Amino acid sequence: MMKLAILISGNGSNMAAIYKSIASKQLKAVITSVTSNNPQAAGLEQAKAWGLTTHVLDHQPLKTRDAFDAALALILKAEAPDFIVLAGFMRILGPQFVSTFQDKILNIHPSLLPKHKGLHTHQKVLDKKDLYHGTSVHLVNHELDGGALIAQKALKIENDDTAESLDKKIKVLEHQLYPWVLQELAEGRIKIKDGVVFHLGEELSAGGLFFPEFL
Ligand code: GRF
Repeated sequence: MMKLAILISGNGSNMAAIYKSIASKQLKAVITSVTSNNPQAAGLEQAKAWGLTTHVLDHQPLKTRDAFDAALALILKAEAPDFIVLAGFMRILGPQFVSTFQDKILNIHPSLLPKHKGLHTHQKVLDKKDLYHGTSVHLVNHELDGGALIAQKALKIENDDTAESLDKKIKVLEHQLYPWVLQELAEGRIKIKDGVVFHLGEELSAGGLFFPEFL
């Protein structure tokens, strides 16, 4: 069974979507643990209530990024997950951590990468008057929000959309996309090797698998 270690910092709604997909047997995987760098993360309480193993690794007392990464690596090596699933995890992982877990770290980002890396993506699409917005699941590499794309879901921005309405709509897409990608990995239809993503044996082109919600 595919083993997932989930990393969160906040609400954990993507963690919840993954958990529910497993509980409903759509996703064949087990969650080895949920780790948060933020002791107050609401998702931690939820994970505990579901009986999942949780770890709190508060980054504040740890002086350097390397110390945090080393402590996190220790936790995760013991669990030997197939994938480390970043789900609203608000820390940048350093190059050594990324190399240690090469091809195993996944992230979900609320934009159609490579557009709008970083924070405040919903406001950025509105400021740029973009026509489309979406979410991306990608491999984590040394560059922030820069690893190979695996899959994206996109929507058309409506005239009356606000950053808040987009946040709600994008979350709905994320909660479908992340468990789907994980199941494709579980069944071997998506494979990752040396930072390159393959779907059904074909190397994916720059955009990953693309699912428009507006056609
Ligand atoms: C998501 O929108 C995700 O794309 C981004 O952070 C948000 C996390 O939300 N990386 P949640 O904690 O899963 O509710």
